[in-house]
Amino acid sequence: MRKAIIAGNWKMNKTPDEARALVEELIPLVADAECEVVVCPPFVDLCPVSKAIKGTNIHLGAQNIHWAKSGAFTGEISADMLKKFGVEYAIVGHSERRRYFGETDATVNMRAKAALENGITPIICVGESLEQRERGETDEFVASQVRGALEGISADDARRVVIAYEPIWAIGTGRTATAEMAEETITVIRKTLRSIFGNDAAETVRIQYGGSMNPQNAASLMAMENIDGGLIGGASLKAEDFSKVVKYR
Ligand code: 13P
Repeated sequence: MRKAIIAGNWKMNKTPDEARALVEELIPLVADAECEVVVCPPFVDLCPVSKAIKGTNIHLGAQNIHWAKSGAFTGEISADMLKKFGVEYAIVGHSERRRYFGETDATVNMRAKAALENGITPIICVGESLEQRERGETDEFVASQVRGALEGISADDARRVVIAYEPIWAIGTGRTATAEMAEETITVIRKTLRSIFGNDAAETVRIQYGGSMNPQNAASLMAMENIDGGLIGGASLKAEDFSKVVKYR
């Protein structure tokens, strides 16, 4: 059985004080959650958030991770730095990183490997554009992103990975993929995993849906056999909304 994982991607929102306030409001609301709860604040918020969530059931994630241990990589952050704050997850290859900051399958792959080598679980994001969906290229494209991100990773390591399927056209648009549509593409992702790593690993990997997921649509998405969680943007910035997604049942 795969344990459901609901993660909030705060993106570039919340100052350290605002971040602490948000997570303090969230703690009692999700204390009895059945799923794994993760928040991914901006880097400067990791310190106050990590202090606030100590001893709670909320886990900490970062929004990126660099592949090098240290060095001349202006604007980047290393696994060692993240681990100091108790970071257990790192989002890699978000479509906003791919689109605005030149992230490629190759750099996503290096970041994912660095995370795994350091005991951090990468949340690897994949997803097609509207044009690709309309041209009927979704399956092929998403499968190629999965293969690229996991190139050279062993089946044992692959089991620990989380994949987030986020169709670009559903991010921040209020336009959610229907549960059936999301399930269809996520099934393609699981098939791709099966072809690379075999059945066991493929059945272990948790695959999230992301893209305008909210308290209203969470239950129907989570009811799908292959959807094991959500990566939540906008709705994770309000404690009450996020807690309703976490408690989707
Ligand atoms: P929204 O939930 O705001 O659509 O964002 C989804 C997302 O990009 C999470 O990583």
